[in-house]
Amino acid sequence: MSLDIVILAAGQGTRMRSALPKVLHPIAGNSMLGHVIHSARQLQPKGIHVVIGHGAELVRERLAADDLNFVMQDKQLGTGHAVAQALPAITADTVLVLYGDVPLIEVQTLQRLLAKVSASQLGLLTVNLADPSGYGRIVRDAQGQVTAIVEHKDASEAQKAIKEGNTGILAMPAARLADWMGRLSNNNTQGEYYLTDVIAMAVADGLVVATEQPHDPMEVQGANDRRQLAELERHYQLREGRRLMAQGVTLRDPARFDVRGEVIVGRDVLIDINVILEGRVVIEDDVQIGPNCVIKDSTLRKGVVIKANSHIEGAVMGEGSDAGPFARLRPGSVLEARAHVGNFVELKNAHLGEGAKAGHLTYLGDAEVGARTNIGAGTITCNYDGANKFRTVMGEDVFIGSNNSLVAPVEIQAGATTAAGSTITQTVEAGQLGVARARQRNIEGWKRPEKIKKS
Ligand code: UD1
Ligand code: CA
Repeated sequence: MSLDIVILAAGQGTRMRSALPKVLHPIAGNSMLGHVIHSARQLQPKGIHVVIGHGAELVRERLAADDLNFVMQDKQLGTGHAVAQALPAITADTVLVLYGDVPLIEVQTLQRLLAKVSASQLGLLTVNLADPSGYGRIVRDAQGQVTAIVEHKDASEAQKAIKEGNTGILAMPAARLADWMGRLSNNNTQGEYYLTDVIAMAVADGLVVATEQPHDPMEVQGANDRRQLAELERHYQLREGRRLMAQGVTLRDPARFDVRGEVIVGRDVLIDINVILEGRVVIEDDVQIGPNCVIKDSTLRKGVVIKANSHIEGAVMGEGSDAGPFARLRPGSVLEARAHVGNFVELKNAHLGEGAKAGHLTYLGDAEVGARTNIGAGTITCNYDGANKFRTVMGEDVFIGSNNSLVAPVEIQAGATTAAGSTITQTVEAGQLGVARARQRNIEGWKRPEKIKKS
């Protein structure tokens, strides 16, 4: 079987009350349409055809990719009309229709649906709903065979009582499509070309309509307003949370945990409340993440501990290293095994060797820190002169006293020490003590100023 996928994404989405086209509204940091495309790709189709209309330029710009064919639908004349716009680009023997605003559809569900399609059979995804208002109803004959879909607005009272609704997702043999599309009419309550009219035509042509259901009705839930968007977001997050728990992660509260990207986890990982994982995050065995942490595009090796309120981005934390509370690792931060970053420490483009320590109130930018080196509280690298950035290089077993300013470019060689309060501008060689501060002098008999009396 070869497959073409048509994604309907031309609708306006008035109820979002937004300048942003509906399908670009995000779920878990990716647009709704982005999620649908992601699922579509996993079916390895010949083509993915995205029908766009409202906000077409922005949609095209945001999602442009070599494997996507954008098809313009200038006027939204109905779902049938939308699919017809993609027809000239279809070359496969099966066509699957998806909606750009139904983001949680699972690949396995689509595979089950596609298994039902043949030259003589359509696959239709339906859902049983307590309140099917607004949905097209699945009409079956006495033998239980699907004969038609009737839109809510066109349905008789008896048809409105049908609880089985049309999800809109269906798979059809491509050979008949041009004929069916050509015969669609807009002679209905909404004056639209309904894709759903294809069902009755297929039955009249002697084809069978086989139905399939999603395991979870939220898979086929669309987002028409921000409330539904929030419901889909929470559902997505719960699903991600369950997936991670199944892999050996303890989530202190799955309702207070968000993934906005791709997470790869090991076993016996502990994640406290209000943690956000963004982009691509790799978490190895025995990692512990404290509450209120944001971790983006980073790798946490075995046994890493991140304490509360830390922000980690573009970093690699080596085995057994730790950071926080209140640590900030910016892109290019690399901690080797057992390195330690304490509270109110910021790193950017900094490499901490094995067992190196920056315990308190420190900024290390564009810095190389040797193994076992200890950096005193309040130390900063002066890496930027207002125009250019320079490196600070510290060898192994260096001891930087408290409250140093290390004016880059500068080198402190292995085993060297700097005195507290120093402003280091020149190389400190191996084994030397660098002192760069005014010598203390004490003034005898110092009289403190007295308050002047106001008359
Ligand atoms: C459609 C189905 C209905 C089903 C329901 C599920 C038809 C006629 N009806 O109704 O049976 O129960 O979905 O939600 O198919 N779109 C376009 N171009 C258009 C019209 C729509 O791209 O000209 C897109 C929309 O952006 C949306 C999707 O198609 O993503 C569905 O359109 P919508 O207007 O929401 O269809 P419903 O009336 O809800
Ligand atoms: Ca709809």
